[in-house]
Amino acid sequence: MQSAAEQEALGREVLHLEVGQPSTPAPEKVLQTAKKVFDQDKLGYTVALGIDPLRERIARHYQDFYNICVSTQNIVVTSGSTGGFILAFLTAFNEGDRVVYGSPGYPCYRNILTALGIEPVEILTGPETRFQPTPELIEQIEEPVDGLIVASPANPTGTMIDNTEMETLSNYCQTKGIRLISDEIYHGITYQHPAVSAYRYSKDAIILNSFSKYFSMTGWRLGWMIIPDNWIRPIECLAQNFYISPHTLSQIAGTAAFDCYEEINGHVARYAKNREILLNELPSAGLDKLAPADGAFYIYADISHLTDDSTGFCSQLLVDTGVAATPGIDFDPSRGHQTMRFSFCGKTHDMIEAAKQLKSWIGQKT
Ligand SMILES: Cc1ncc(COP(=O)(O)O)c(C=O)c1O
Repeated sequence: MQSAAEQEALGREVLHLEVGQPSTPAPEKVLQTAKKVFDQDKLGYTVALGIDPLRERIARHYQDFYNICVSTQNIVVTSGSTGGFILAFLTAFNEGDRVVYGSPGYPCYRNILTALGIEPVEILTGPETRFQPTPELIEQIEEPVDGLIVASPANPTGTMIDNTEMETLSNYCQTKGIRLISDEIYHGITYQHPAVSAYRYSKDAIILNSFSKYFSMTGWRLGWMIIPDNWIRPIECLAQNFYISPHTLSQIAGTAAFDCYEEINGHVARYAKNREILLNELPSAGLDKLAPADGAFYIYADISHLTDDSTGFCSQLLVDTGVAATPGIDFDPSRGHQTMRFSFCGKTHDMIEAAKQLKSWIGQKT
């Protein structure tokens, strides 16, 4: 993003396929509500677990979206899912515990775990398991394993865990006493099948979700968790002491987001179009080893036939063509020097133009 900004500062047009945030604003009703609240409300603190109307609306979302019943008291409003991760890791694990997650994966898992003195343990995943962890892969990890983090759809691959796999994983975790943490932040952004919540199979799993992606509200810093009964008080104490309450304006306005499915699904339709363009065009640009882009707004490409230095490759691509994309190194420290991620939540025009540029640039290289 920094390199892309530098190119823009030089007056160049940049095609943004690097950022993992929607290019659209928050839903219209959220903006209207925020403006009203801003004028009328004194915006004081709220209770630490979040305001009841929002928690109730989130509970209803589970009924509408997944046909599962979640009690309002088990829902905690957080400061983005990132705030939720910190609360969840602190509550679930002790210093020195070992928590596994699939690599390539979202880098903040390992960074937050490390900062809290918990040992991040990566499982190298590949196309055989759709880049997702499985009980067989976890079995190969040295014991003890205290936690497992899954994300479906995942960042950077976009791959998903289906119902049967989620049930298997969650049964495995329950049998082994492993705490399952399910990052469901890309739910709603899927292209073939709806995503399954781990809550369907385990009431002990910790579910993280957010308004950032599907609801197009990254900067509002609003998310939620579903937690078991015996976590409510500890989480309330931690939240109260860390930040007193989630952002008040965002909580009130965010409640209106659940009245905006139609507008939001319009964004998902655009992502679907963008995805189709890239999936059609990237192979003819020589990028044909792609992770199955089941959901989210990412395509993860194996570029081992083109480079051993994805960072240099992406920098040169940006300078030569104006196409900004993300090197895989942060998502997979050991193999990411041969991968890159394209984000397709931007403008459709950018996808068409980027595909053209990639074809000609890679064509000249090979
Ligand atoms: C997989 C995944 N989880 C969590 C987050 C954090 O999102 P937020 O804190 O905005 O909810 C991101 C952001 O890119 C992500 O890709």
